[in-house]
Amino acid sequence: MPVDPSQERYLSLLAQVLTDYVNISIHDGSQFVRPDYAERDLNDLAVRRAIRGEGGDWPQRAYSMSGLKRLDNLRHCIEQVVADDVPGDVVETGVWRGGACIFAKAVLDVLGAQDRWVWLADSFQGLPAPDFERYPGEFSLDLSTIDYLKAGRAVVEENFRRFGLLDGRVRFIEGWFRDTLPNAPVRSIAVLRLDGDLYESTMVALDALYDRVPSGGYVIIDDHGAVPACADAVRDFRQRRGIADPMVDIDWTGTFWRKS
Ligand SMILES: C[S@@+](CC[C@H](N)C(=O)[O-])C[C@H]1O[C@@H](n2cnc3c(N)ncnc32)[C@H](O)[C@@H]1O
Repeated sequence: MPVDPSQERYLSLLAQVLTDYVNISIHDGSQFVRPDYAERDLNDLAVRRAIRGEGGDWPQRAYSMSGLKRLDNLRHCIEQVVADDVPGDVVETGVWRGGACIFAKAVLDVLGAQDRWVWLADSFQGLPAPDFERYPGEFSLDLSTIDYLKAGRAVVEENFRRFGLLDGRVRFIEGWFRDTLPNAPVRSIAVLRLDGDLYESTMVALDALYDRVPSGGYVIIDDHGAVPACADAVRDFRQRRGIADPMVDIDWTGTFWRKS
């Protein structure tokens, strides 16, 4: 769907601000950097560009960890469902500071898709501790104690306000996925973006929300390459449900498929 040149510039600049790509000349002291970049000079412009473009670190200042490629994929999916009249909203499970959802809201607004909402599902207090009894193959790292991964709802709302994008079409689903998602009030989901890292967070979201994605809708998995337990959950779910829709890689970790 064509957008005019000023809208194109707006979305491009917004993605660069949300991912902190605009400050690319500065090494911001990222909390975590992909192992294959760890040996490289993080003050080297080309290295910084590659890292942020692919969301290969935990950046200090960005509103989204995801990087340009995964935001671009999110935009592509939204544009496609609007163009094809696939009914439903955009849902992200695991929003952190809200950057990907801020971008999704901007894309919907630019497209004039005023009948579609953005839903943000998160505990707004970080990840749960791994539950190895229930999920023996769970991600071995306990991320629940990492303050960096905790962004409160007030912070996320303020981030939306900074970009002038907070209104009644931005909805919050607050709490642990296992408690909130099965009865979440969202009906049809045209774009479902999963970014909860863990086996549990991925499986609970798929179990609760996959059937609300209509044919032609998209399922995006942010952590597929980065977290083996997340990939296991996707594999187990797809096998159990007999899903053969091809998975397409976005970058080193993100992957997505379109529901047939
Ligand atoms: C990697 S961050 C999300 C990054 C974000 N999508 C972005 O664009 O930068 C993971 C988020 O998932 C949330 N989360 C993970 N598992 C959860 C669960 N089971 N219930 C509620 N929130 C969860 C955490 O609170 C955290 O905000």
